[in-house]
Amino acid sequence: MNTPRHFLTLNDLSSDELLAVLRRASELKQMQRNGIPHASLTGKVMAMIFAKASTRTRVSFEAGMTQLGGSAMFLSSSATQMGRGEPVEDTARVISSMVDIVMIRTFDHQEVETFAANSSVPVINALTDDFHPCQLLADMQTWFEHRGDMRGKTACWLGDGNNMCHSYINAAKLLGFHLRIACPEGYEPSPTVLAAAGDAVTIEPDPKVAVAGAHLLVTDVWASMGQEAEANERINAMSAYQLNRELLDLADDEAIYLHCLPAHRGEEITADLMDDPNSVIWDEAENRLHAQKALVEFLLS
Ligand code: CP
Ligand code: NVA
Repeated sequence: MNTPRHFLTLNDLSSDELLAVLRRASELKQMQRNGIPHASLTGKVMAMIFAKASTRTRVSFEAGMTQLGGSAMFLSSSATQMGRGEPVEDTARVISSMVDIVMIRTFDHQEVETFAANSSVPVINALTDDFHPCQLLADMQTWFEHRGDMRGKTACWLGDGNNMCHSYINAAKLLGFHLRIACPEGYEPSPTVLAAAGDAVTIEPDPKVAVAGAHLLVTDVWASMGQEAEANERINAMSAYQLNRELLDLADDEAIYLHCLPAHRGEEITADLMDDPNSVIWDEAENRLHAQKALVEFLLS
């Protein structure tokens, strides 16, 4: 069997590879904007397996594969034999014998690891309960495009120490920025993920202290997919961590703020920040398309 490159967490790329993918993403964006066709993946087929809902991830991968001359097929895990208990190992072996690359969004991170271990083609983690590395490609592309090199700068994560927070921890270590995490007790990120980032990351429970002078503020929903039953207790625990004008005013004068979307206006972020004409959140969402095109090119090259 081939030994394909997978992208299950950001740590599957070296710092140099990650920077190269981000640069390529901006190039592909300009080509797309200028109407220059770029069919680098003619005839290549992506299988997209979803066990959770998605708007951005599905649309960006599907549009991206088409723009590169390939195609993508949507597979809801509940509508396949996976939903009836066919082992992940067997599914991976079969699907990877028919397509060139696979994207999976599911709950248990172990499932994408098992899939990858049994796949003859590259596997991309399109979100698990533990990580969302594709979103970090878009976020880092957006930060770079708006403010240049992030080395030595400070980002601040507000709210839940969730899958997005874990991928920010990986990004801080790989890209050389400092990450302050402001989260309430009981909602901290995984100690293992934190430990691997060493002094690139600090926990600062006071949100006003955490955002002071930061160059990037970022948040995400307080109840992720699968945690809907805990939504009320999470709102109560995290209300002091809302990304709002008051916190933004304490950050660097040139600070930008990001949210992977979908957002709950009035919970983790205020409506005025979502709808501010200077918000780059919409660029961030669009960059999912360009960043993942660069990623797929890299993994298939
Ligand atoms: N940010 C993100 O992954 O969005 P979707 O859930 O819509 O794919
Ligand atoms: N943390 C969120 C991200 C959604 C894109 C979730 O897992 O639901």
